[in-house]
Amino acid sequence: MNQIIRASAPAKVNLVFEVGQLATDGYHPVNSLYLALNLREDLTLVKGEPGTGISIYVHGETLPEAHINSVPTDQSNLVHKTAVLFAEKLGKPVPDLQLDIHKRIPVAGGMAGGSADAAAMLVAMNEFMHKEHGTERLSIDELAVIGAELGSDVPFCLYGGMALGTGRGEVISPLEDLGFETNWLLCASSKGLSTPTVFAAFDELDSHRPFTDLSDFATIASVSELASRMTNDLEQAAFSLMPALSELVSQLEQLGALRAMVSGSGPTIAALFESEQGAVEVASVLKAQGLVALTAKGQAHGARLDG
Ligand code: C5P
Repeated sequence: MNQIIRASAPAKVNLVFEVGQLATDGYHPVNSLYLALNLREDLTLVKGEPGTGISIYVHGETLPEAHINSVPTDQSNLVHKTAVLFAEKLGKPVPDLQLDIHKRIPVAGGMAGGSADAAAMLVAMNEFMHKEHGTERLSIDELAVIGAELGSDVPFCLYGGMALGTGRGEVISPLEDLGFETNWLLCASSKGLSTPTVFAAFDELDSHRPFTDLSDFATIASVSELASRMTNDLEQAAFSLMPALSELVSQLEQLGALRAMVSGSGPTIAALFESEQGAVEVASVLKAQGLVALTAKGQAHGARLDG
């Protein structure tokens, strides 16, 4: 019988995103505090017929069709790159695979949607190659080293929870879980923002500042204290590219969000609420305005196999 492997991986928000000056490697050093949300990408891997290569099917009912249609299904898709890189690392041929990606994370939205797909694929490939070729299963730390070659957020999507991200975001130091649940409203834009474009706009603004110590975040006692410490150095850059985002942030805070902020490089706005009910109520206000509003909870576990 054909092998079927299911895996999933979480979305992230950056509770804090501090960005330094562009380095010679083309990346910006960051000091980031990641939180994983229970908004997950589901990946199903089925062994394909010999010689059929890798085929990718993408779907997702909760996101606008434009988001789903913008995801490539050829070798430029990150899960395709993940399959090729993983096989290469193990010194094995690239397998024939049918991949199904159920997307829930806004595409090009600053919430690590593509990175979550890659993280789920790493976990799925780890299992597939073990069953197919008897290769040793790699540890999460080993998977994270491969993941860092695919994208700066991939290692965090493997670990999940709450973690510091340094380097270009790929060096993960897990923190203790927050002692409380967080309730989020995520307002996705109909159009995405390209991460390099937002970083380039940040360079134009020339507003980098010294990094702060984020290691005490796990001791934060309340959601309002957490809200008061949220910052994103890329926010002004995202506003300069999409001015409507700034109005949306103000609107969300007027409607009751403790804090609304651009998520990562945007354009998704992540708004933190005191209660689930608050997030759900404001989501319905935004939906009535024709906006895409999702709700989610933090924190969530990293990429894993699902039964
Ligand atoms: O690592 P990832 O592939 O997600 O990065 C996409 C692009 O975003 C990079 O090529 C770079 O231009 C920009 N980037 C950056 N500094 C980071 C992370 C990403 O400038 N720390």
